[in-house]
Amino acid sequence: MPMLLRAVPVFLALCCGVIACDGAMPSTEPFMNINPRPLDLKEPLGSSPKTETKPASSVATGVAEAAQAPVLCEFVTAGSFGGLLVAEALSAMTSGKVLNIIPSRKSGRTVKITLRIEPDWRVFYKPRHHVHLFTRPQGEVGAYRINRLLGMNHVPPAVLRTFNGSVIHSAFKRHALPERLEQLEREVLREATDEMEGAMLLWVDGAVNYDPSPSLLDKMSRPEATLLPREQALVWDLSWMFVLDHLTNNYDRFTGGNILRKNDGRLVFIDNGAAFGPDREWKAALRKQRLARLTRHAPAFTRALRRVEPRVIAACVGEVLSQRDIIELLSRRDELLSHFLELEKNCPIDCRFARELDAP
Ligand SMILES: Nc1ncnc2c1ncn2[C@@H]1O[C@H](COP(=O)(O)OP(=O)(O)OP(=O)(O)O)[C@@H](O)[C@H]1O
Ligand SMILES: [Mg+2]
Repeated sequence: MPMLLRAVPVFLALCCGVIACDGAMPSTEPFMNINPRPLDLKEPLGSSPKTETKPASSVATGVAEAAQAPVLCEFVTAGSFGGLLVAEALSAMTSGKVLNIIPSRKSGRTVKITLRIEPDWRVFYKPRHHVHLFTRPQGEVGAYRINRLLGMNHVPPAVLRTFNGSVIHSAFKRHALPERLEQLEREVLREATDEMEGAMLLWVDGAVNYDPSPSLLDKMSRPEATLLPREQALVWDLSWMFVLDHLTNNYDRFTGGNILRKNDGRLVFIDNGAAFGPDREWKAALRKQRLARLTRHAPAFTRALRRVEPRVIAACVGEVLSQRDIIELLSRRDELLSHFLELEKNCPIDCRFARELDAP
C-alpha cells in the first residue's frame, strides 16, 4: 500500500480524538441545531507548531515533535467575509435561533430556504436531496474550508446543520409554491418528521450572478494574451476557482448561477454541493480541461497548495470528508503542484501573473 494510503487513517484516528468527527445524533428539537458538534468554534483546536532554531543534536527530536504537534484550524474561523466576522457567522449558523423560515422562490432544480437567524443573520439553507448527488452539504462545507486553507476568501462561510423536518415542512405548507412543497416531500423528506440535513451558507449581499465570457476563458488558456486591467482581477479570481474546483473535484461550476460578482468586482464561488464524492472518468476529463485554463503562475499558488497537507486536512476538514475523499484530494493537490511547477520551469517570465491580488 502506498505510504499515503496508510498514513491517512492514522491521521484521522489521531485527529478524531481532538475534534468531534462523528457521534450519535442527539434528540430532535424544533429550530435547534441537532448536529453532533461539527467544530467547536469557541475553543482553539490546538497550539500552533512553533518554528525555532534547534541545536543540530536535537534536530531528529524536533522532527518527531513537529509530526506530533497539534494542528491549528484557525484559518476556518479567522477574519471576515463581506464585512462580517466569520467566527460569529459560523457560530450563529451552527446553533443560533432561527427566527424566520422563507422557502426560496428561486427557480432551479432544488429546494432552497432563506433563514433569518438571531439577531439578524441572513443565511441560505440547502438541504440534501436524496435524488441529486450534487446537493451534498459536506461538499459546501469542505469547499469553504479548503478555500480558507488556501488563504483565499471566495466561498461563503458554511456549516452543516440538521433540522427537524416537520418545522420546515409546516413553513413550506404555509409559504411555499405548491410544486416546491411537493418537491420537498418527494426529494428531501421521506417522512415529514424526518431529520433534514443541509448546508447553511452566509448570504452574500449586493452580488450578482456572473458567468465568464467565452473570450475571457479563451484568454485564460493563452498566457500570451494581453489582459485588460479589469480582466486581470477576474482571471486571478477565476484561477483560484479552477484550483479550488480541481482540488474538490467539483464538476458543477458552469451550469449557471454558481459564480457571483460583488460590486467591488471580486468573485464569490457558490454552490459547491457537487464537490468531493466518488471520482469518475468524466470528472477526470473535466479536470484536464480545467488545467488547460491555468496557464499563468504565481508563487501564491504553490505556497497555498503546499498548505494542503494530510494532517491539516484530517484535523480541519476530516469531519466532512471520507478517507477516500482525503486521499483523492491529496492526489489532485499533487497534480496541481506539478502543473504549476512545470509552468514555472518552462515559462518563468511570460507566464507569470503580472500582479497578485490579496484575498477578497
Ligand atoms: N450565499 C449566497 N449569497 C447570495 N446569493 C446566493 C447564495 N447562494 C445562492 N445564491 C443565489 O441562489 C441561486 C441558487 O443557489 P445555488 O446555485 O447554490 O443552488 P443550486 O443548488 O444551484 O440550486 P438549483 O440547482 O435549484 O438552481 C444562485 O444562483 C444565487 O443567485
Ligand atoms: Mg447552482
